[in-house]
Amino acid sequence: MDYTIRQTKFATIAPFKTKAGRERVIIFNPVGAVWFAAFITEQSKSIPIGCACCVIKGQEALFRGIYVEMPYRRQGIFRALFTEQLKYCLAHGIKELTANCTPLSLPEFLAKGFTKVGNYKKSQTITVVRRVI
Ligand SMILES: CC(C)(COP(=O)(O)OP(=O)(O)OC[C@H]1O[C@@H](n2cnc3c(N)ncnc32)[C@H](O)[C@@H]1OP(=O)(O)O)[C@@H](O)C(=O)NCCC(=O)NCCS
Repeated sequence: MDYTIRQTKFATIAPFKTKAGRERVIIFNPVGAVWFAAFITEQSKSIPIGCACCVIKGQEALFRGIYVEMPYRRQGIFRALFTEQLKYCLAHGIKELTANCTPLSLPEFLAKGFTKVGNYKKSQTITVVRRVI
């Protein structure tokens, strides 16, 4: 499947809010968020199929808003979004990355060298992970 990843505005990925919410992933646009989306082309239109953002605070970034549409999962889109997030952070002097992982995203964060630092205070199923870059 052909897709491209690029930086985008929150408005482009806002339609994912409802579907992501059903999987208990809250998508909103916090201060400092830089959004990325994966796009496919259908009938000459660019359609977003997944998203993720880096919320920048000083030299730290929180990776959040990670969502890939169901029919496109397990094809490396999350991994590709992660690569773009990481590139952005390295280019902008970020030193530490944090993410609040669901059980679906945790294996990939651990594979990318993040370590568990605890559970999210509001949910035992969310694991907080961190990595210095
Ligand atoms: C988590 C999510 C973003 C993964 O997207 P994806 O594009 O399917 O992920 P990728 O294909 O890039 O997978 C990368 C790796 O993540 C892990 N992974 C992805 N989906 C998984 C699943 N259902 N079960 C276990 N591991 C999974 C695997 O290690 C996978 O590598 P592999 O396919 O080589 O084994 C997607 O399932 C999703 O949107 N889930 C609902 C929202 C959510 O949980 N977001 C995470 C918030 S932090």
